[in-house]
Amino acid sequence: MRTLYPAAARRAFLQASAGVALGGTALTGCTFASKLPVVGARSGDPTHRLVLAPTMASLVGADHPSTRVWAYNGTIPGPMVRARQGEPVRILVENRLEEDTTVHWHGIRLPLAMDGVPGLSQPPIPPGGRFVYAFTPPDAGTFWYHPHANSLRQLGMGLAGAMIVEERSPVIGYDRDLTWVLGDWRLTPDAQVDDRFGSPREAAMVGRIGNTVTLNGRVPQAEAVRAGERIRLRLVNVSLARIMALRFEGHAPVVIAVDGQPCVPHPAPEGRVVLGPAMRVDLALDLVAEPGTRHRVIDAFIERRAYRLVELAYLPDAPIQRPPLGPVAALPPNPLPEPDLARAERILVSIQGGMHGGLRMAAPDRIWALNGHSMGGDGHAGMAPMRTLRLGGSYVLRFLNETAFHHPMHVHGFSFLQLARDGEPVPHRQWADTVMVGPRETVDVAFVADTPGDWMLHCHVTDHQVSGLMAVLRVA
Ligand code: C2O
Ligand code: CU
Ligand code: CU
Repeated sequence: MRTLYPAAARRAFLQASAGVALGGTALTGCTFASKLPVVGARSGDPTHRLVLAPTMASLVGADHPSTRVWAYNGTIPGPMVRARQGEPVRILVENRLEEDTTVHWHGIRLPLAMDGVPGLSQPPIPPGGRFVYAFTPPDAGTFWYHPHANSLRQLGMGLAGAMIVEERSPVIGYDRDLTWVLGDWRLTPDAQVDDRFGSPREAAMVGRIGNTVTLNGRVPQAEAVRAGERIRLRLVNVSLARIMALRFEGHAPVVIAVDGQPCVPHPAPEGRVVLGPAMRVDLALDLVAEPGTRHRVIDAFIERRAYRLVELAYLPDAPIQRPPLGPVAALPPNPLPEPDLARAERILVSIQGGMHGGLRMAAPDRIWALNGHSMGGDGHAGMAPMRTLRLGGSYVLRFLNETAFHHPMHVHGFSFLQLARDGEPVPHRQWADTVMVGPRETVDVAFVADTPGDWMLHCHVTDHQVSGLMAVLRVA
């Protein structure tokens, strides 16, 4: 597919934009790329409000037309919802779209009624309707929210936002806390969202990959940084289908959390930070280069189509600290139930179908299957569970990818411990809610089924989800 705003064009675009020229004080007028509006805790009013409506957004910059999008509170991405670990949040959602919606709080462990799956956990919110989501996040970390209705279109039109749950006591050791919400858009030459969603041909392959990547809702300009800073950088991939592998040239980011869940701090393997759709990674990023220099952040998931996502542009100011900046401390652990691996029951989840996968391509909602069954869409009442789990029981899910494609597999309601890839124990103890399962790969994860309800399990490449790669786990 043609790339509309490729790296080269983007570079020209960047150089032409104000505020990113190097030298002197040019950068001081540059706003941080990562400023996000916040609907926040500690405002006195415990209820946040999210209003969904169509609006216009300037995604590609002033030289291009604005894009007609669907947005929460009129911004792309939606406002950052800030909450505090162990404290109740209430979010009033008002639907001013012309179709049903729901909000799913991806990665937050909460009661089923707040999970935002139409038919399964709540009736959809109709046009003009409202719904109050109320829950108490048990885990601190980086999460996100998105619709679980007409997902291809609603996500593809821009409905997504970050949810940050702050630790009970503030984490020290960072000079700044930044969030990059990374979105992928398929834009037409007049910068409008291509409205042909749901191509079965794409669904049978890698899904709807766009041609324009945004960082916090804009084709990114430089991210201004200060030499000597240590930043907690929260990455959130809200793409429909694009898998990213970020490299920070000249820098050695340390992974401190995956999908919101803290891990033993370790350098990003081979310097690549892999982020499938829906995945989050928190990094400790030490800004150890010289003042006034610039360094690219590139997405090289597909090496031959690598492009520059953004540049770290160092301010000319003297370093606030001289490297090395010292060891990175682990984040405080979240209260996750420990699966009993010796007694865990094993569940095989075979991922099947797709192009060359042997499934008949007749029905667009049966392109993919889990254990031979195709269930597509966004969730609806009366979905038969793939399996009933015993409340409180420990389970090992084995994802067996029989296909030629990557699948970021996601389970609602739980975080799971990653155990092994192709039988090899994973190098770091790591929890997640979305795990990448490569072509022909086998991935084992474990969790305790400690919350009752019907929970979705699906691939987060949205085209795959809606065309069969979805199932329900019942915990009773
Ligand atoms: Cu982001 Cu069904 O989930
Ligand atoms: Cu989810
Ligand atoms: Cu998939």
